[in-house]
Amino acid sequence: MDGLLSLFDFEAAAQRRVSHAAWARISGGAADELTLRWNHEAYEKIRLKPRALVDVSNLDTRVTLFGQELPFPILLAPTGGQKFVHSEGELAAARGGAAAKATYVISSSASMRVEDIARTATGPVWFQLYVQRDRGFTRDLVQRAEDSGCRALCVTVDSPTFGARNREDRAKGDLPERELPNLKGKDYLDPTLTWKDIDWLRSFARRPVLLKGILNPDDAATAVKAGVAGIIVSNHGARNLDTVPATIDALPLVVDRVAGRMPVLVDGGVRRGTDVLKALALGAAAVQIGRPYLWGLGVAGAEGVERVVEILRHEFELAMMLAGRPAIGGIDRSVLW
Ligand SMILES: Cc1cc2nc3c(=O)[nH]c(=O)nc-3n(C[C@H](O)[C@H](O)[C@H](O)COP(=O)(O)O)c2cc1C
Repeated sequence: MDGLLSLFDFEAAAQRRVSHAAWARISGGAADELTLRWNHEAYEKIRLKPRALVDVSNLDTRVTLFGQELPFPILLAPTGGQKFVHSEGELAAARGGAAAKATYVISSSASMRVEDIARTATGPVWFQLYVQRDRGFTRDLVQRAEDSGCRALCVTVDSPTFGARNREDRAKGDLPERELPNLKGKDYLDPTLTWKDIDWLRSFARRPVLLKGILNPDDAATAVKAGVAGIIVSNHGARNLDTVPATIDALPLVVDRVAGRMPVLVDGGVRRGTDVLKALALGAAAVQIGRPYLWGLGVAGAEGVERVVEILRHEFELAMMLAGRPAIGGIDRSVLW
C-alpha cells in the first residue's frame, strides 16, 4: 500500500486488482451514470472560506449519534456482496473498519451472516435492512441483527427496485452467483413498502430506526412526523434513479426542513477530507463512504479498509485545522465561500 496516499490512489489500485466484473459492480452506477459523476463533482464545486489566526492545536472530532460516541464523523455504508471484492468479504471489511474505529454498517445483502460479521467486528456495527415481502422473516432478521449487537437499523427506502445498472449487467456473466445468507431468496426488494411499514418496524425495533435513501425534503418532513430516529440523505451511490441530484446538493434542503429535530447523515461521492468538512458545514451529523472502503478491501483486505478510513480521517483533520475550525460545533455554513 506504500504510495497509496489518497482514496483515488486506492481506486486506481483496486481497479488493477479485482476482476473486471467485480470492478463493474463496485464502481458502476445506474444508466448513463450522470448522478454518479455529479455526486463527487458537486463537492468539487463548493469553495471553502478559511479563517486565519485561530488556535487549532487541539482538535476535537468527536460526535454523538443516538447515544453512541464516534471518534470522528465517518461511517462505512452498507454494501452487499463483499466476497466479490475479497475472499474474506465482510469479515475483513468489518475488521478493518473496527481497527480504524469507524462504525461499520452491515448490509442485509451481505455475502456472510450478520451474526458472523458482528462477532468479527471488534468495534460498533449497525444493520441495514431491506424489508422482505415476508414480514415475519423481516422481523426475525431485525431481531437477529439486534441480538448480534447492531446498535442502529438503517431501513433502505430508495429501492422498490434496482436501477438500470447497465455497466454491472454487461459484465455480470463473469461473476459467480450471489450469496445472500441473510435474505429470503434472490428477489429481495419489496415494491409495496410504504410509511405504514415504517410504523410497523418501529413497533418492535429495539434500536434507533433510520431511513436510508431520503432525497426529497417533503419525505424528510414525513420522516420527522413518523418519529424515526434519523435519516440518511442518499441516492444509493447513484445506482438506482439516474439524474437525481448529487446528495450534497439535496442535503441543505433536507436539513432546513428537518430543522434540528433529528440527525441527518449523508453519503455519496465523499472522497476527500474537505468533502467531510463541506457535508458537516451543510448540516450533516456524519458521512458514510461506500465505494472507497471497497477499494481498500480489494487492494489489501482489512488493512486496506483501515488505511482508507485513516487517510480520510487525517484529511478531515487537516481540513479542520486549515479552515480554522478546531471543533465540530464550529463547522457551519460560514466555512463555505
Ligand atoms: C457495490 C455496492 C453495493 C451496495 N449495496 C447496498 C446495500 O446492500 N444496501 C444499501 O442500503 N446500500 C447499498 N449501497 C449503497 C451504499 O450504502 C451507499 O449509499 C453508497 O455507496 C454511497 O456512495 P459512495 O459509494 O459514492 O460513497 C451499495 C453501494 C455499492 C457501491
